[in-house]
Amino acid sequence: MRSKIVAGNWKMNNNQDETESLLTDLKNNLPSTTAEVIVAPTFVNLAQATSAVKDSAIQVAAQNMHFAANGAFTGEISADMLLNIGIDTVIIGHSERRAYFGETDELLAKKVATALDNNMRIIFCFGEELEDRKSGNHFKVVASQLKNGLFSLPADAFKSIVLAYEPVWAIGTGETASPEQAQEMHAFIRETLSEAYSSDIAQEVSILYGGSVKPGNANEIFSKPDVDGGLIGGASLVADDFLAIVKAI
Ligand code: 13P
Repeated sequence: MRSKIVAGNWKMNNNQDETESLLTDLKNNLPSTTAEVIVAPTFVNLAQATSAVKDSAIQVAAQNMHFAANGAFTGEISADMLLNIGIDTVIIGHSERRAYFGETDELLAKKVATALDNNMRIIFCFGEELEDRKSGNHFKVVASQLKNGLFSLPADAFKSIVLAYEPVWAIGTGETASPEQAQEMHAFIRETLSEAYSSDIAQEVSILYGGSVKPGNANEIFSKPDVDGGLIGGASLVADDFLAIVKAI
């Protein structure tokens, strides 16, 4: 079901003490909202985070997982390991996984399939690089990431998928897509889903925007009709900033 979501992707930040302190601040000051609020700490602090947000509306997600059920994959984490500590939401396809860890559309499609087999919810990330936008290929790139990563799935799968459009040129750069650019791409994503599946599916999927969302620009971005919330990096590490972004939705 389409819902408003503000999710914080903490990336490789926050040790155990910092996790405790940030979550305490968030929990104690969380505004009343109908939006879902999600944080994605690093693997080693997921169990701690789950217990820290118990009795609050904050949900905890993982930043990644492996597609295999178990086995000889040194350094990897399985769906079962996440579920076993109460984590049923996972970010898949973040541009940093794609760029620095060689995760391809094909690999991501396998991860998506595993997550769905395990009844997990997926925040599926995608977005074009700067050169794609400069050369006018951004729609083509996004359509191809969606097609290769998701479009062999049955329509039903989209009940468990949240999309996160994150133009790579806007991540951690301070350069945000303008609200108009975000809206234009989100509308295109819905149109692409509608063509591949149906307009019902397209209307029911939540599409988040990610890339330098800050308290100062969140309101305007979130006011666009096809933007259902944000996936926040840097600003999710500062309690006041993240809370201000939650308020903006
Ligand atoms: P920034 O908000 O730091 O640009 O990061 C966005 C992001 O990559 C969230 O997944």
